[in-house]
Amino acid sequence: MTSPRTTLSLVDTDPAELAVDAIVIGVHSQSGEQAATSGLAGTLLLSSGAESIAAAFDGKLTETLALLGATGGPGEVIKLATLGTVTAPLVVAVGLGAEPTGAAPNPEILRRAAGAAVRALAGAPRVALALPLPDDADAAAALRAVAEGALLGGYRFAGYKTRPQPTRREPVAEVLVSVPDASDATAQAEVARAQAVAGAVRLSRDWVNTAPNELRPPAFAEVVAAAAREAGLTVEVLDEAELKAGGYGGITAVGQGSEAPPRLVKLTYTPEGGGTGKRVALVGKGITFDTGGISIKPAQGMWEMKSDMAGAAAVGAAMLAVAALKPSVAVSGYLPMAENMPSGTSYRPGDVVTMFNGKRVEVLNTDAEGRMILGDAIARACADGCDYLFETSTLTGGQVISLGKRIAGVMGTPELCERVRAAGDATGEPAWPMPLPDDVRKGMDSDVADISQVNAGMDRAGHMLQGGVFLREFVADDVAWAHIDIAGPGYHSGEPTGYWTKGGTGVPVRTLLHLIDDVAANG
Ligand code: BES
Ligand code: MN
Ligand code: ZN
Repeated sequence: MTSPRTTLSLVDTDPAELAVDAIVIGVHSQSGEQAATSGLAGTLLLSSGAESIAAAFDGKLTETLALLGATGGPGEVIKLATLGTVTAPLVVAVGLGAEPTGAAPNPEILRRAAGAAVRALAGAPRVALALPLPDDADAAAALRAVAEGALLGGYRFAGYKTRPQPTRREPVAEVLVSVPDASDATAQAEVARAQAVAGAVRLSRDWVNTAPNELRPPAFAEVVAAAAREAGLTVEVLDEAELKAGGYGGITAVGQGSEAPPRLVKLTYTPEGGGTGKRVALVGKGITFDTGGISIKPAQGMWEMKSDMAGAAAVGAAMLAVAALKPSVAVSGYLPMAENMPSGTSYRPGDVVTMFNGKRVEVLNTDAEGRMILGDAIARACADGCDYLFETSTLTGGQVISLGKRIAGVMGTPELCERVRAAGDATGEPAWPMPLPDDVRKGMDSDVADISQVNAGMDRAGHMLQGGVFLREFVADDVAWAHIDIAGPGYHSGEPTGYWTKGGTGVPVRTLLHLIDDVAANG
């Protein structure tokens, strides 16, 4: 099920003369202090990019927007009919918050503004964005943000409705971004990158939003493998018999309760001429539905566990973008997939499972299934050989309790956790480093096996950290690693906001791609 696409290109003609259905400009809110020193009445300021539109309105644009209720607050969208003042029939003013002092506008503000504007313009086939793009070292980051925001704000899941919805307007089909020089090579490269990146985010959202009866492990593996082959990646898919024979005890245990058997998909990208020699491994949790298994979850909200494969969706989609972007590092993606179901063949609390790296785990709660499949996949990635390992998963409700719905938790090698935090900051996918305390590991000592799957007394203290501490057992000593818990940010259950729509968010696709660029550039 693929969603309709939005295309994006650059223009450098005067925004006032563009033949589009709407032209988007930015407005800043003016602080009381700024109003006092400038002596200007009102609290609105047009941002750069809007000059020719303002001129066409004879100096009355700010006033008119204020009359319509514009305040310049972030995310605000105000529409104004142009009545022939400019070529486009509609001007849309999108709020950018207070005007940044000196520095370029914060990329995330631009990204959200572009997303909100394009989302609000559903029904208009062709729109242009005349947003503030600095003419300096920050130009590329600002253009990247605007392009990503616009393409993601234009996302809509195709869905399953059998009748056309008369009140539903089609997402914007074509976005033009107004820049000083449309033939500039750096700007064009940013657009090409944004298209590949946003395409990956949209695909990962589609996979997350797909109904779980349509995306059980064999089907998920098939759709990922087909897309990856088409993109030119090397693909390996292990089925249930191969997983069992190969010693993948964790994936086998979780998968055995379902009629739809588990899979492990490995996707490999090899750079031309060997690249820098660095090898990155990406690992993503692919629980296509998490009932909790024998330790079954309450019915309330259980349907949201269709998103428990958001980590695998992000890794699979990021690998497709890697195939298009061709970074100078080797990248392998590992997607362990299973459906966590209660049945007569399910694994059970008390079971002892031998994992791919030989360690034995005492199962205490079948709902802590993610770490079982991830332990195997991480160990396999380390056995294949890698320098950096990034793993991402909707692993613990504890992540949502401690950091909320927008900020991912990061655990692992401290230096790499800091790089993940910085990548999250740059991409607008915030992530915060968390510790791996000795006492939490001590609490997971098992009476009978090498480690318990959760705290042996079922104590939920440090719940998110237990996940990180468990996964560390499967990482080889010489590998720098980071575990990114996206239980909250992977899925958006609220109303659309910025470039986020309801459902899958695509987090952390853009973080992973940023990290790959980081490793390619800095080792
Ligand atoms: N998939 C869930 C975690 C989750 C919760 C993701 C909420 C997204 C939103 C995970 O498999 C799970 O069930 N975790 C348990 C772990 C517990 C049994 C140790 C949890 O968080 O309660
Ligand atoms: Mn679970
Ligand atoms: Zn789960």
